[in-house]
Amino acid sequence: MDNSHWWNETVFYQVYLPSFRDGNNDGLGDFYGLLEKIDYLASLGVKGLWITPFYPSPLVDNGYDISDYCAVDPRFGDMAAFGAVLQACHQRGMKVIIDVVINHVSSLHPWFQDAWNNPASPWRDFFLFSDAPNNWQSFFSGPAWSKEPDTGQYYFHKFSPQQVDLNWRNPRVEQEILQMLDFWIVQGVDGFRFDVINFLTTDGITADNPQSEGEQQHLNDINQPGLCAVLARLCRHVRQQGDYFLVGEVGSEDLDVLQRYQRPELLDVVFNFNLGSQKTFSATAIYQQLTAMEKQLTGVPTLFFSSHDMPRMISRFGESERDTARAIAVMALQITARGVPFIFQGEENGMTDYVPESLEQIYDIQGRTHYHSALADGLPPGQALVQAIQHSRDGSRSPCQWRNTPHAGFSSCPPWIPVNANYPEVNARAMQDDPDSIFHAYQKLILLRNQSPALQHGEYQFLECIQQCLWFARRFGDETVMVAINFGMEISNPGREIAGELLYGEDASVLGKNHIVIKRTVHGKE
Ligand code: GLC
Repeated sequence: MDNSHWWNETVFYQVYLPSFRDGNNDGLGDFYGLLEKIDYLASLGVKGLWITPFYPSPLVDNGYDISDYCAVDPRFGDMAAFGAVLQACHQRGMKVIIDVVINHVSSLHPWFQDAWNNPASPWRDFFLFSDAPNNWQSFFSGPAWSKEPDTGQYYFHKFSPQQVDLNWRNPRVEQEILQMLDFWIVQGVDGFRFDVINFLTTDGITADNPQSEGEQQHLNDINQPGLCAVLARLCRHVRQQGDYFLVGEVGSEDLDVLQRYQRPELLDVVFNFNLGSQKTFSATAIYQQLTAMEKQLTGVPTLFFSSHDMPRMISRFGESERDTARAIAVMALQITARGVPFIFQGEENGMTDYVPESLEQIYDIQGRTHYHSALADGLPPGQALVQAIQHSRDGSRSPCQWRNTPHAGFSSCPPWIPVNANYPEVNARAMQDDPDSIFHAYQKLILLRNQSPALQHGEYQFLECIQQCLWFARRFGDETVMVAINFGMEISNPGREIAGELLYGEDASVLGKNHIVIKRTVHGKE
């Protein structure tokens, strides 16, 4: 197996830019704010950042609706501010990958502005128009087709009507996207996260999707047969220019589908949401995913438990809102299991979900669209609101809590989305001051991984789940690291009899709930 890439050794941190830190005091996070926090991130020990979209955008989906691929939205900064962040990261040995959304563009993108309602437009074939739309539905609920005023035609959008799908059968679309990737390579980025990459419409509009148990099955609109060929061309184009890290967001719960795209000639890694977005905590379910990924995936898995699209880990996996012991135990697994870890911003300080209570408190387009679809389906407003809250992704998007000062030190003015009320206790400054805090546990565990070839590159010697204790060893060269993380009731320490240097936790004979033990042996020295 090829272990030689820089990203095999890298702990990544996801910066959801709108909510990270506002440096120019307009209530929205930006590159100026991020620049102020690069030293903080370096002190955490992460060696790579994934920065979510920052391009000019009407921000209908917080930037996942791009209206210009080769610029920075003034609300997020400018090219100089982007360059300053990149340089500050590189100076500290941190790499930067950026999010590219190539399935769709904003309806305000000049290509669509020209094409819309205009059959003579040279850009018309960049998009998918139809006289008779099929039954495909939007992932934000409701139809995936919207009508033009004059032509009688409809255009296709897998997400909101303001996020218009590109027609990947058109070679000019591919050309434009390759040029865009080149533009950012020239700026100095170290890789790309391809948004909803298995959604590209490479084979056009095909048969209706089937229904099952009242829900549409996305059989024909995603994972289209032509995708691997397109993706191989994109990946080859980038790789010809250097060792860039190519990450794919693949919307699928099926490991067979994921493994299709994670290959030496395609993506380096894909996100597996079966592991990352489990709704409630189950050590067994996590163990099953880890073992399934070992069997089914070529290359290495990704390890993440939170993102801007799902509720925060502690709010799903904790036995209470502030169950930091569980959060640290999950983090220990994320850092020591085989794979590339991605930490979502704020997790290192134990941030919890923001919970909207009214329609006005829902900012996410997905939540709001569900509200309107529910009303259109005849549900009363109260039930539509329940649907909207269930589908809203606002939970993990509330501003990062930096200090116990107004607006949590995120901004000096009211942020675009409210700060979580617990910021006086849950904030980065408070965690820094407390040696036993979740932040310091993150720091120690990341440092451990950064210094251990076995934790960066090692294959599993074994991987077991004893009751609710995950117990495994990974070896690389002459180093073996053994890890026991007990998520359940007390059990006897499976590694107690094995001699080794204690790296983390207490090597007790009995392991209590959320107890972590990490030990190392160096062969020849046992
Ligand atoms: C991805 C993004 C999500 C966005 C969607 C559409 O899933 O992570 O936030 O809404 O793509 O671009």
